[in-house]
Amino acid sequence: MTDVYEFMGASSLVPVVVIENPADADALGSALEDGGLPSAEITLRTPGALTVIRELAERPGFVVGAGTVVRPKQVDDAVAAGASYIVSPGFSADVARECAIQRVPLIPGTVTATEIQMALDAGIEVMKFFPAGASGGAPVIKALSAPFPNVRFVPTGGITLDTLPDYLRIPAVLAVGGTWIAPRDIIAAQSFKEITQRVREALAVVEENK
Ligand code: 3PG
Repeated sequence: MTDVYEFMGASSLVPVVVIENPADADALGSALEDGGLPSAEITLRTPGALTVIRELAERPGFVVGAGTVVRPKQVDDAVAAGASYIVSPGFSADVARECAIQRVPLIPGTVTATEIQMALDAGIEVMKFFPAGASGGAPVIKALSAPFPNVRFVPTGGITLDTLPDYLRIPAVLAVGGTWIAPRDIIAAQSFKEITQRVREALAVVEENK
């Protein structure tokens, strides 16, 4: 568990990023660093995502993961590009097997007790809770953590600065992720100061809820 946390940059916040233009990678990396969060999960939802992972992974001290990984081949591509952890929206035994072969931590998406048990069977104890808001949010994580005291959750999906504290207060929550920190349209508009500001605001909320 601690290992995965270290791989994710030892932070309670994970900016989930959908980025259209790889030419924006450098400015995005600087914006996140300036705010105090040298970390990002780059989703493989855009053609340039692997290029962005490659560029961010070259920044000293910057931790980059690959998100929206649904096929084993994407694990290989992401690891080759420099991703230090893999995130999936759901649980796939094929993806889990490939991550084990590649020795890269996988954070699979789970929302039910059955899915949690599938991930546990694969030796995984840190799981994404996705889509967090639409799946009932913080109360559901609390309920699920009762029968699974060793599982740690990374909720993402529908989380905002306003709902962030609800999740941070749950002991079973390892970190909280979302696109609100560096939204696709704000990256595309190259409003990088806004991203730095959002990182600072989110980190302040993390501090308040420690
Ligand atoms: C994810 O992949 O984790 C989600 O797309 C993040 O969801 P959000 O856009 O609602 O933050």
